[in-house]
Amino acid sequence: MAKVHAMWQNYPEIETELAQSLALIEDNIHTKNQAVTDAILKMISAGGKLLRPAYCLLFSQFNAVDRQKMIALAAAVETLHTATLIHDDIVDDSNLRRHQESIQARFGKDVAVYAGDYLFVVCFKLLANYASDLKSIQFNSQTMDQILDGELSQMTTRYNLDLTPEQYLQQINGKTGQLFALSCFIGAYESQKGLKFARQAEKIGLNIGLAFQILDDILDYTQTDVDFGKPVLDDMRRGVYSIPLIMALQSNRQTLAPYLEKQAAMTDADVHAVQGIVRQSGSVEKAQALAQDYTNRALAGLAKLPDMPAKTTLQQLTERLLTRKA
Ligand code: IPE
Ligand code: IPE
Ligand code: MG
Ligand code: MG
Repeated sequence: MAKVHAMWQNYPEIETELAQSLALIEDNIHTKNQAVTDAILKMISAGGKLLRPAYCLLFSQFNAVDRQKMIALAAAVETLHTATLIHDDIVDDSNLRRHQESIQARFGKDVAVYAGDYLFVVCFKLLANYASDLKSIQFNSQTMDQILDGELSQMTTRYNLDLTPEQYLQQINGKTGQLFALSCFIGAYESQKGLKFARQAEKIGLNIGLAFQILDDILDYTQTDVDFGKPVLDDMRRGVYSIPLIMALQSNRQTLAPYLEKQAAMTDADVHAVQGIVRQSGSVEKAQALAQDYTNRALAGLAKLPDMPAKTTLQQLTERLLTRKA
C-alpha cells in the first residue's frame, strides 16, 4: 500500500483512505515518456502531508456515501495541488520540494512543465470519472482560475515595498485559500448533505487555508531548509514579500529598504540581515497572531457542525496545523 505521511498514524480510517487515494493517483500515471512518469511518481511518493485530500475525506464523513467515489475525489484535489507545486517550483526556481530535489532541478524545466500539465489531465480524468455531476468540474475550474489569479497578482507586485497586508491576503486567498476551500466543499457537496452544508465547509476551508499559508510564510523566516524540506528565504530575493516582511516594513522601512532595493542582486548576507531585522521587529509574533485569528474563525465554523467523530478530528487537525514545523 502507498505510504502516507506519519501525521496520520493516529487516524487509521483517514490513513487508509489517503493511502487508497495515493494508490489511485499512481495507477493513473502512465505517460509514454519514462522520464516524465518517473519524475511524477517520485514526487507523489515523496511524503506530502496530504492535507487537502484529508479535509475532503473528513467533510464527506457527515453523511453515508460511496467511499470509493470520495477517495477518487480526494485524489483529484491532491493531484491538482501537486501539479501547482511542480509548476510553482519552476516559477520560483526552487530546487528542493518535500525534502528531495524538485522536479525542475532534477529533470529540467521542460520535464517539469509536462509533468505538471499531465497531473492537471489526471485531475480532470478523475473528476470526469467519479464526480456526481458537472458542477464539481465547474467548481474545480473556478478554483484553478482563482489560484492563477493569486499567482499573477503576486507576480505583478514583485519588489513592491508598499505591498499592503490586504493585498497579500488577497494573493494568498487565491493561491492557497481557494484550494483548501474547494477540498472541504467537494467533500461536503459530493456527500449529498446539501448545498448549505457545503458552503459552510467551503468557508471553514478558506480560513484554514489562509492560516496555513500565513504559517508557511512564517516558517520561511524561522526554519532551515533541511527541517522545512524546501528552501527558506528564497522568495525574498525574487521580490515575493510575505506577511512577516510586509509587517516589518511598516515599522522598520528605513533599515530594510537599502537591502531590498538591491532586488535580485541581494547577497546571502543581505538576505540574512533582512531575516534578522524581521525577527527582531516582532513581526513574526504579529503574523502568528493573524494565523491564530484565521484558525479561530475556522474553529468557530467547525463548532457549529453536527456532533460526529469527523468533527472532533477536524478540530484537532485544524488546531495542530498552527504548531507545525514543516
Ligand atoms: C505547500 O503546501 C504549498 C503551500 C500552499 C504553502 P503543503 O505544505 O501542503 O505541501 P505538501 O503537499 O505537504 O508537500
Ligand atoms: C504556494 O506557493 C501556492 C502554490 C503552489 C500555488 P509558494 O511558492 O508560496 O509555496 P512554497 O513555499 O514554494 O511551498
Ligand atoms: Mg510561489
Ligand atoms: Mg514556491
